This record gives sequence, structure tokens and C-alpha cells, in this order.
Amino acid sequence: MTDNQVAQRQNKFRFVAKKGSGAFADVIQAENTKTGQMVAIKRMKQTYKSIDQIVQLREIQALKVLSQNQNTVKLLEILFDKSTGRLALVFELMSHDMYQTIRHRKTPLPVNQVKWYMFQILNGLKASHQAGFFHRDMKPENVLVQKNSESWTGDIVKLSDFGSARQIGSEFPYTEYISTRWYRPPEVLLSDGIYGQEMDIFGLGCVMYELIELHPIFPGKDEFDQMCRIHNVLGTPSTELIKRLRRNAKNNPIKAEFQVVKGCGVQTMMTNAKPEVVDIIAKMLEYDPLRRISAQQCLAHSYFDDFLTVIEEVRKDKKIDETFVKDMEDAWKQARNIPVQKTERTQPKEDTEEAAEKPKPKPKPKTKPTVTKTVNANSAPQIVHPPPENKTNVVQLGFSTTGALPTLKKTYYKAGK
Ligand SMILES: Nc1ncnc2c1ncn2[C@@H]1O[C@H](COP(=O)(O)OP(=O)(O)OP(=O)(O)O)[C@@H](O)[C@H]1O
Ligand SMILES: [Mg+2]
Repeated sequence: MTDNQVAQRQNKFRFVAKKGSGAFADVIQAENTKTGQMVAIKRMKQTYKSIDQIVQLREIQALKVLSQNQNTVKLLEILFDKSTGRLALVFELMSHDMYQTIRHRKTPLPVNQVKWYMFQILNGLKASHQAGFFHRDMKPENVLVQKNSESWTGDIVKLSDFGSARQIGSEFPYTEYISTRWYRPPEVLLSDGIYGQEMDIFGLGCVMYELIELHPIFPGKDEFDQMCRIHNVLGTPSTELIKRLRRNAKNNPIKAEFQVVKGCGVQTMMTNAKPEVVDIIAKMLEYDPLRRISAQQCLAHSYFDDFLTVIEEVRKDKKIDETFVKDMEDAWKQARNIPVQKTERTQPKEDTEEAAEKPKPKPKPKTKPTVTKTVNANSAPQIVHPPPENKTNVVQLGFSTTGALPTLKKTYYKAGK
């Protein structure tokens, strides 16, 4: 049997289509050949030395903590080929990213659609900040949409790509590559890595503007141009504030002084937007990170006062599971300190009296574990090295999401027959 035939028989995933690519990874759509489940596999460009190194990755740490949040993309499995050091993350499959939603659009999105999207992104971001992680790469490409119907009323929105995430309060300065320039706030552009979770809110303010106006608000050509574009809208701030943000900026590429400009204001940039829309965006784009609105405060902003009418529209369409819609409604109430009525989640059958009377079905015989292969982003999944002595090099870290805090199980799979 050739390697390829072995691969065909033993592959756990079948390549279906390319979904996207970023600076750090390629993402493909694949099918779990055993279960038929469609997944997204993110194949990292960087290689890794050990499982311990992988488990420490911030993307995995953050996703582990956020696995219970409805607006965060779910990590299902981790695949690691020890012989090549290649790492692939298996995620739930989403339909597309937010950039694809707006890229070719000529007419504005319905206002309720933007509100539905914004609420979900903020709910995901709030959870991330509360869990102690900030995202650091807010942009339309990193917000994913799961389409359940033709209309936006069937759309579920989730935050993804925690590859740049950082722990809030971890030691300064942050020197690694961070967020795409167009979505960077002044404190990131001006300092040498001294910033916090407020940067996500500024980035999201830019994303919200883009969702409404269908073009980026600050498409800077380089760091200095980026600052000038921000000043042209928000105005050049006081020298004290610039000085505060510029502290510890010895290696910062921006050396020149800024021209003092008044700034046209967000309002001028959004002639058709309602005052509460302009207000929330202006608060998200607040220059001083210490005065910028938080995700939690955004959810309680007057922009979301009529959010229940959005929920009503979503409910009418009946394309999204009621549990999810109710969760969004409860999140809205919680943000406003409105008491939330706890609904009984469907009790698991085993716990009910009815189940107690019924004889328990015989436990299914344990199925043989399947081999997990390394996946090639450009072609059908292949075995990189044939497994020596009936044992693969690929390690699958099962990602259990049933407990409050999922645990990573290290499981070495033997080759199937
Ligand atoms: N679960 C998913 N379902 C569907 N498409 C996805 C999924 N995850 C990622 N994608 C697509 O792949 C693209 C790249 O993924 P991701 O942002 O995770 O990679 P990256 O290399 O870390 O990106 P970046 O360059 O932004 O750092 C996304 O913008 C999106 O279009
Ligand atoms: Mg990305």
C-alpha cells in the first residue's frame, strides 16, 4: 500500500476548500471523515518543539478560558506533528469573516444588523477582558460570522484569532508584532509596547465605523501617516497627553512632531448616522486610553437602548437557536442591571425520573481511536512521515469543552488498521 493509500484510509480530515490565510497561518475547511462534521483547520506557519510549548501558546490559553463564551470561536482539537513540529488548530467552521461581509457592498447594512453584530462582538470582547486576556488584533478579518439563513437575523458572530492575545497586567513592554496598523490606537503607535486592553476598544471603534460606512476610518500608509489621520478626525491632543503616551518610546519609529490640527470630529465623517451611533464610536475612539469606554460600558450605552427590537426581529426569523438568543437578551439585561429570569435548561435525560425507570442502555464498545494526520493547507491532507511501527508522530490534544474550565488531554493515538 502506498503512503497515499494509507493516507486516504487513515486520514481523519478530508480537505474541502481553502478558507483564508493570515500572517501566521493558513485556514482550510475540512471534513471529519468519521463524523461528517465540517471544521476549519488553522495550520500554523511557525513550527514548535514540544507539546508543552504548544500548551503555553497564548492563543490556546485564551481560547481555553473563553470556551464557554457564545461569541468566541470554539477550538475543537489541537493537532501536532512531532516529527515536523507542525501545529494545526481545529475550530468550529464559520461561514465567513466580517471583511467579506462588507468588501463588495455598495449599500449600507441595515442598522439593526450592525447593532446585532456589534452587541455580539462586544459580548465576546467583554468576556475576554473579564477573563484577563486582551485580543490585540481587532479587525474585520478576525470577526467571524456563522450564517444560518439568507438574512442577517440568522447570523451568529464570534471573535476569533487570539494569536496575538496577551494577559492583562502582564509585564511591559510588549515587543512582539501586534495589530494591523489601521486599527491601532495612539498609545500603541506612540509607545514602545506600553498599552492595555483599551486598545481593543479603539480597534473595535474603527471596525464599527467600517461596518457602517463600508470603508476604513484611518487607512494609514505608515505609522506617522496613521497618527496624522487620527489627528485629522480627533484633533491633536495636548502636549501633556502625547508626552504621557510617548514615555518609554526610545525605539519608536515616530520621531517627528505633530502639526496641531483641530480635527473634523467623528460626526462629520458619518453624516447619516444617528447621534447615539456617533456617540458610542466617538467614545470608543477616545484618544486617551484612560478615558476610553470599556466593553462593559459599551453594552450599557444608549446605542443599545432599543436592542430588544433587534432581538424580536431575530426571534421572528427562528433561524438561531432560542438558547443563544436568550443568552444575548440576558447579556443585554445584565449590562443594564435588569434582573434576569433563569430558565430551566433542558435537564439531561439521565437525571429525570423517566430516565431512572428505563433500563440503562448497554455502554457502546469503545471505538478504536483514529489516526490524526498532519493537514496540508494547499492540498488534500497527507501523512508527512509514515508512522513508524504502527504509531504516528501526530499527537492529538483532545479539547474538552464540557467542564467549566476545559482541560487538555494528551492522547497518543495508534495507527488504525
Ligand atoms: N473557524 C473559522 N471558520 C471559517 N473561517 C475561518 C475560521 N478561522 C479563520 N478563518 C478565516 O481564515 C482567516 C485567517 O485566520 P486567522 O485570522 O485565525 O489567521 P492569522 O494568520 O492568525 O491571521 P492574522 O494575519 O490576522 O494574524 C480569517 O480571517 C478567516 O477569513
Ligand atoms: Mg486573523
